[in-house]
Amino acid sequence: MSDLLTIEVDGGVAVLTVNRPDKLNALNAAVIDALDAAFARFETDDAVRCVVVTGAGEKAFVAGADIAELAENSPLQGEACSRKGQAVFQRISSLGKPVIAAINGFALGGGLELALAATFRTASTTAKVGLPEITLGIIPGYGGTQRLPRLVGLGRALEMMLTGGMIDAAEAHRIGLVNHVHEPAELLDATRKLAGKLARQAPIATRFILEATHRGTDLPLAEGQALEASLFGLIASTHDTREGLRAFLEKRKPEFDGS
Ligand code: COA
Repeated sequence: MSDLLTIEVDGGVAVLTVNRPDKLNALNAAVIDALDAAFARFETDDAVRCVVVTGAGEKAFVAGADIAELAENSPLQGEACSRKGQAVFQRISSLGKPVIAAINGFALGGGLELALAATFRTASTTAKVGLPEITLGIIPGYGGTQRLPRLVGLGRALEMMLTGGMIDAAEAHRIGLVNHVHEPAELLDATRKLAGKLARQAPIATRFILEATHRGTDLPLAEGQALEASLFGLIASTHDTREGLRAFLEKRKPEFDGS
């Protein structure tokens, strides 16, 4: 697809690796464009049921937006850059298929924001995460001020953003920022295994759970529940619902085909 990203698809799982290890996989404009193109393809590719995002090399997941590029931005270019990154990360979070960020080292600034756009996160014991933008005199611009407090609560998010400090994998796990922590050599295999499990679930049910949850958390409870009820009704029209319920009653494994 591009030298800046590698993509391998196997058993319904796409593993996407950001590949700029000499710059700790920092997100320059070309990487952002490549991510946009990759996720546009995943949206329509039925062979991809789940995506794992990780970083090349042993040191970093993604060490942030490319600071050399940021340093050249005029105010209007800065706003455009933020809006572009936000749009690409929104495409990731609304993919309709689970995305797992496998954090294999530093996930800082835009790197943590990329991980926050994923459905959930796994990490190696060596991972370090943070939003250090304030130490550069800037603010997070790819959704971090919005997604981090929604995930870990206002107090913890504001402490991370206002100090700019990093937390380690154990602390990230303790506060619910990452779901599982693995030894570095095991992170990718363990995450692939989990992704494989998600990839075998009924695709429409997966998409509706993601939609009800993501859209619902931004709605008042009553409206979120109305959305849930509509999707609960709609899913009854699918082959996979009939198959899943019948298979249970017939004491056999369901065969979901995504229709
Ligand atoms: N943008 C551009 N280049 C970056 C980068 C970023 N966000 N993060 C790292 N790099 C580059 C470094 O400039 C260096 O390039 P060089 O070899 O051409 O000088 C290379 O990646 C290796 O990084 P280095 O700083 O030498 O590694 P380190 O082990 O000493 O430190 C970090 C690792 C992650 C602590 C440090 O690189 C860092 O603080 N990066 C910036 C993190 C950040 O503020 N991100 C938010 C940006 S909005």
